[in-house]
Amino acid sequence: MNIKKILKMKNKEKIAMITAYDYVSAKIAEAAGIDMILVGDSASNVMLGNDDTVKIGMDEMLIFIKAVKKGAPNTFVVGDMPFLSYQVSESEAIKNAGLILKAGADAVKLEGGKYVAPLINKMVNYGIPVMGHIGFTPQSYKQIGISSKGKTKTEEDMLIESAIALEEAGAFSIVLEMVTELVAKKITETISIPTIGIGAGRFCDGQVLVWHDFLGLNKDFEPKFLKKYLNGFELFKKAIENYSNEVKNGKFPTIENVFKPIESSDQK
Ligand code: KIV
Repeated sequence: MNIKKILKMKNKEKIAMITAYDYVSAKIAEAAGIDMILVGDSASNVMLGNDDTVKIGMDEMLIFIKAVKKGAPNTFVVGDMPFLSYQVSESEAIKNAGLILKAGADAVKLEGGKYVAPLINKMVNYGIPVMGHIGFTPQSYKQIGISSKGKTKTEEDMLIESAIALEEAGAFSIVLEMVTELVAKKITETISIPTIGIGAGRFCDGQVLVWHDFLGLNKDFEPKFLKKYLNGFELFKKAIENYSNEVKNGKFPTIENVFKPIESSDQK
């Protein structure tokens, strides 16, 4: 997978993307043939237990990105730019984007509408592939609140304008997060780069879901847009209970699980 192929998928084949944050999960995702992996700053919540994405830093993101690329060397990996890694200055933003690529990502993602277009354009000119992210942008939740976007004509116009600006700046794709379905459809039909929806309805060019959410590991997280493909929390819990019970009642380990001397007759 590369940017050329991702661009060609528009109007031909839907793009399936998931997040991952560690080596083994990335290996599973690659084995499943997923089109793209996002090492999202949602790692702040699902990996580090923070209550928002604002709290994760570059140092932590780089660890997750390195692990994921090792697990999925043949999959297109997008690394999220965490809060304050691209807002302070253009030079710092470009340096941090470069560090994300050096960690193994094939592209970076950053949040924001038309006001980040000049920065994206600079990055793209320096050879850094960029995925945009508009609609509900979690790093700004303290300012914009947690709600779907595109419900008013003003919001709709702003979103469409932003999508066009990001495409013109050179972004190769745009995440639409919690955007009303009709507006997401209009954006998808307006721009020629793929839109990747999360809570943005059926007509985006692709979809992305967070690992812990669609595998049902995040037990009480049940937003309207989510479909759980596994009851992961209960399955993991049951396995841990089984293991714990077997340790306590002496059923594990058995003779199959022990190391034996080379010449052993009494331990068969
Ligand atoms: O951090 C993340 O997981 C994301 C997705 C929700 C798109 O940005």
